[in-house]
Amino acid sequence: MEKIYPDSHVEIQGFTARHYDRIMDVMFLGSYSRFIKSAIKAMEIKPGENILDLGCGTGRNSRIMHKYCKDEGYILGIDISEEMQAQFIKKFKKYNNIEFKQSRIDVPLNLDRKFDAVFMSFVLHGLPHEARLKVVKNIFDNLKPGGRFCLLDFSEFKLDEIPKLHKKIFTTIECKYAFEFVERDWKEILSENGFTDFKEKFWIKKYVRLLTAYKNV
Ligand SMILES: C[S@@+](CC[C@H](N)C(=O)[O-])C[C@H]1O[C@@H](n2cnc3c(N)ncnc32)[C@H](O)[C@@H]1O
Repeated sequence: MEKIYPDSHVEIQGFTARHYDRIMDVMFLGSYSRFIKSAIKAMEIKPGENILDLGCGTGRNSRIMHKYCKDEGYILGIDISEEMQAQFIKKFKKYNNIEFKQSRIDVPLNLDRKFDAVFMSFVLHGLPHEARLKVVKNIFDNLKPGGRFCLLDFSEFKLDEIPKLHKKIFTTIECKYAFEFVERDWKEILSENGFTDFKEKFWIKKYVRLLTAYKNV
């Protein structure tokens, strides 16, 4: 499948897509599972909530979210990748409240319900900025009034101000879009797009943040 944005590192394909969860576990020396469980716990998902997981990947995060929204809740995962789709569908074939839609997330989504929370984990940083703004609009449009956007991604930092080794690792692994993502003021961008009342929680030497933003209309 052709990449939509050839320079993006979040359009994961082939071997990396098929083994994505295991690769994350190895890269994080076995601590990824603990980290992602802690981040999803911080979303404060309640039983019965409807969650939209944008760029959902293999469904690893949706499975954790399901422990909180439970069988009375609902989760829709959206992802462009057929390899991710196959893993997601396999994981949830026995669940009738967890569904998958194969789609780009930077085009209108045309969904048949609104959501209490939209979760997006390590996707936004890897898109061109104009595509990010389309995703943010989609999120706002698909949230219920009072709903929240939970953005788990790199936090804000100046690449020239972090230790040289950290910069080397970041610029080796990540793509050019990520380099400018981390230097942007995401609370300001989300405010300009209708969101209010921000909450933040940090992990991994404060390089990663769960930024929660509310649609208070
Ligand atoms: C780095 S992975 C993160 C997956 C998952 N959110 C996680 O945290 O495990 C990025 C995901 O975003 C998806 N993706 C990238 N660009 C996309 C786009 N334009 N539309 C839909 N999905 C996209 C990829 O297929 C991949 O599954």
